[in-house]
Amino acid sequence: MSKKVFIKTYGCQMNVYDSKRMADVLKPQGYVVSESSDDADLVILNTCHIREKAAEKVYSEIGRLKLAKQAKAAEGKDMYIAIAGCVAQAEGPEMMRRAPAIDMVLGPQTYHRLPEMLKSAEEQRSGGRMSARVLDTEFPVDTKFDHLPEESDYTGPAAFLTIQEGCDKFCTFCVVPYTRGAEYSRPVADIVAEAKRLVTSGVVEITLLGQNVNAYHGDTASGETASLGALIRELDEIDGLGRIRYTTSHPRDMDDELIEAHRDVKACMPYLHLPVQSGSNSILDAMNRKHTREHYFDIIDRLRAAKPDLALSSDFIVGFPGETDQDFEDTMDLIRRVKYASAYSFKYSPRPGTPASIMETQVPEDVKSKRLAALQALVNEHQLEFNTNSIGKEMDILLERPGKYAGQLLGRSPYLQAVHVDVSNVQNALAEDADNPYSEFMGKLVRVRISEAGPNSLKGELVSALH
Ligand code: SAH
Ligand code: SF4
Ligand code: F3S
Repeated sequence: MSKKVFIKTYGCQMNVYDSKRMADVLKPQGYVVSESSDDADLVILNTCHIREKAAEKVYSEIGRLKLAKQAKAAEGKDMYIAIAGCVAQAEGPEMMRRAPAIDMVLGPQTYHRLPEMLKSAEEQRSGGRMSARVLDTEFPVDTKFDHLPEESDYTGPAAFLTIQEGCDKFCTFCVVPYTRGAEYSRPVADIVAEAKRLVTSGVVEITLLGQNVNAYHGDTASGETASLGALIRELDEIDGLGRIRYTTSHPRDMDDELIEAHRDVKACMPYLHLPVQSGSNSILDAMNRKHTREHYFDIIDRLRAAKPDLALSSDFIVGFPGETDQDFEDTMDLIRRVKYASAYSFKYSPRPGTPASIMETQVPEDVKSKRLAALQALVNEHQLEFNTNSIGKEMDILLERPGKYAGQLLGRSPYLQAVHVDVSNVQNALAEDADNPYSEFMGKLVRVRISEAGPNSLKGELVSALH
């Protein structure tokens, strides 16, 4: 009989990809993915360490799982709790001490070894012990990508594909270089093969992932090195791959080849997440970002010259140690100049072991809160303006899931806007599948005229199906 694994994912898209791959690793072991922890034989929390709140959530979830594990034990059944991801990597041994219900702790670079870990956990518990103590958070010399099985079929038209791992940049606020390890780029051939398999299983859009995705420099078959721009051109050759996105980029690695890919490659979507974090040069310096605001403006100018309709997004940290009112004003000024289509913003959160966490000029919480609210209000204004400008336009939308109402499907615009598409006006929509009459559009790129815009989504009507 098959066993059930429930994987709960926190954090960034790289963790979403990793969770999917952990399921792939466990499949030959007889595990099927379950949507709930209630009946699971194995529960994996794939954790995020980026901000304090993200890590705290994990401990409260472990508390809940401990009760479930005890209840199962009372019925004579086993349940294993595994902690994966970035909190596991950063605090593995401490987590094991603090939460004895945990059986296994593994890092983002060791999950291909889950079968061995499970075996050893089972051996440890075979004598009736409540928990095993398996810890594997080293950074292996060889990469997990050489050991992962082929991915199982993808459900849905949009997929993530990790092409680059780790980070060597060491921004002073950030845990990623410590939790994900050194920068590594997968070879071009491996990525192309994976992308082809995804497309064969129905994927239309691939988002290439890396914490520093545009620092990508993978080996080619002829022994040369390909940049992200070159990789995008290579992927563009794949029949049926309609859309290519990538995230997250660093301003320092935004080279001409990538900018030209935006100009020339139709499948390369006109949306770019290019985090700047702050608009103040002295804060950028203290963050060790190694670029100035002027450098950032120059990149934006070059990008917009190459691709005039490019929509931009960013991450911002407010209240970094030493941030003055003027520094914050510089950030607001940068936002006014760039006008983002969307942005993520966070209060600075001191992370253990990072240089910024011990800087003496920490900003009080109430100042951080006020700045965050002001920044978000400004970004929301721009976002609404960007969305409102879409009204009356026709766009290609990739329909990804059913909407809230009958006759409505939910998809994404080229600019990553969520779009509710009314397909009920199409006569032949009442297809064979009575439960889901609009299934013929699901997973497809369609032409849509935008009729309404809100702060977080658009509405539109189907003009024609494209494929
Ligand atoms: N590699 C990406 C970002 C990785 S983390 C880059 O270089 O931009 C995602 C976002 O979390 C960051 O862009 C940053 O805005 C935020 N973040 C990271 N560490 C943080 C911290 N200590 N406090 C608050 N926000 C943080
Ligand atoms: Fe973190 Fe900076 Fe690396 Fe991004 S570039 S992952 S913010 S250290
Ligand atoms: Fe979080 Fe790790 Fe991603 S810290 S943001 S899950 S790389």
